[in-house]
Amino acid sequence: MSARTDIDVRPVTEAEYPEWLRAVHAGFLREPVVSEAELEARRSQFEPGRVVGAFDGDRCVATFKSFDQEVTAVGGAFVAADAVSAVTVAATHRRRGLLTRMMSADLAAAKERGDVVATLIAAEYPIYGRFGFGPATWAAEWTIDVPRTGLDPRAPHLDRGCRIDLVDPEDVRKLGPELHDRVRRATPGAVSRGDWWWRVNTGAVRFDPKWTEPFFAVYRAGDGTVEGLVAYEVDDRWGDAKQPLNTARVRGLIASTPAAERALWHYLCSIDWVARVKSGERAPDDLLPHLLPDPRAARITTQADWLWVRILDVVRALETRTYDGEGALVLEIVDGAGLAGGRYRLEASPSGASCTATTRSADLTLDVGELAALWLGDESAVRLVALGRVRENRAGAGRVADALLRTSRRPYCPDMF
Ligand SMILES: CC(C)(COP(=O)(O)OP(=O)(O)OC[C@H]1O[C@@H](n2cnc3c(N)ncnc32)[C@H](O)[C@@H]1OP(=O)(O)O)[C@@H](O)C(=O)NCCC(=O)NCCS
Repeated sequence: MSARTDIDVRPVTEAEYPEWLRAVHAGFLREPVVSEAELEARRSQFEPGRVVGAFDGDRCVATFKSFDQEVTAVGGAFVAADAVSAVTVAATHRRRGLLTRMMSADLAAAKERGDVVATLIAAEYPIYGRFGFGPATWAAEWTIDVPRTGLDPRAPHLDRGCRIDLVDPEDVRKLGPELHDRVRRATPGAVSRGDWWWRVNTGAVRFDPKWTEPFFAVYRAGDGTVEGLVAYEVDDRWGDAKQPLNTARVRGLIASTPAAERALWHYLCSIDWVARVKSGERAPDDLLPHLLPDPRAARITTQADWLWVRILDVVRALETRTYDGEGALVLEIVDGAGLAGGRYRLEASPSGASCTATTRSADLTLDVGELAALWLGDESAVRLVALGRVRENRAGAGRVADALLRTSRRPYCPDMF
């Protein structure tokens, strides 16, 4: 069905913000009521022009917002991203093109501002490909059967001078941002966290009635440097024979060194009464299973696409990342929205890359959404050729692309937004 012209799509005013928030709740099938606490907390996040609604009369029937973000490219540079969030269309107004109208306007504005990419976490796989987004990172969740790990059930072994301490939320707000900046620089696909993120995730801002304060543990290296942080909660389950069956659920674990990563997972598996650890979303090639003497004790219980990326500026995206190999490739990028399409010649080596518009014949032809997965190093061009999603115009060009673009570790976005 085509878009109804009597639905007004526009930036929301501050006065309309409560109605817009109510529509977000309804769109995500939560109780369509916004508490005073939530309204007060969220007002600080209201960014004029970036909060958009569709109105049928006075009623907000669709919501959309975007905000400035940084995404880590391969090699550690941060690129400017337009992060998309709070996308909802009321069940009464679906499939009339409202999302299309909001998304098209937002991507055009992001391109105009000079953002290199747009990002989002997709509720459902089929929604965003049509807008030029592609799944660029994937996530896996493991469930660890602690008694099977083969770990020494006594206190975890820590290298000399290293320590793990339980800390308070205020400590996390002080220590966390600096650690996270180090971690995200080493993690292609990671995104920036503003002050709001730290406040919401440490309970300084509370409006979700279901919020409970987690445990926070910090790992320090021998010289006192904070190298790891984990937030976790533990349920309360006991078997008939009074055996503890509790599950520790990790809300987030970041580590800047493998030693910190190892120590924090071993710590979680050593907590008395904890029989299972659920890892939360990790990179699909996370070290976790292999940090356990018996890796089979960690079972993947969820695996899915995670961060979706929409390339807005092919030249800056490809020139900002690094390359371990050396070579050249001509890419024909197809972009139905007319934002990033064209033919580009990438010439890359470990000392740098140049990407320029060209009239040479293309080695590969691909949709801009496929480029997103290749850009962050996760996907294989050879695989996409086999799937019919990338066309190889020169024999072997897929392998050349893989040698240039794929990375030894998979990209990973630890955040939901
Ligand atoms: C997903 C959602 C925002 C789509 O909004 P919408 O206004 O119905 O989308 P549009 O009418 O602009 O649809 C554009 C196209 O995408 C398709 N599409 C939209 N949502 C889809 C879905 N969930 N699955 C498959 N296709 C979908 C439409 O069929 C349409 O295709 P067409 O152009 O070939 O007809 C809306 O259904 C919704 O709010 N869902 C619940 C909340 C949610 O999932 N939000 C996304 C959070 S990331």
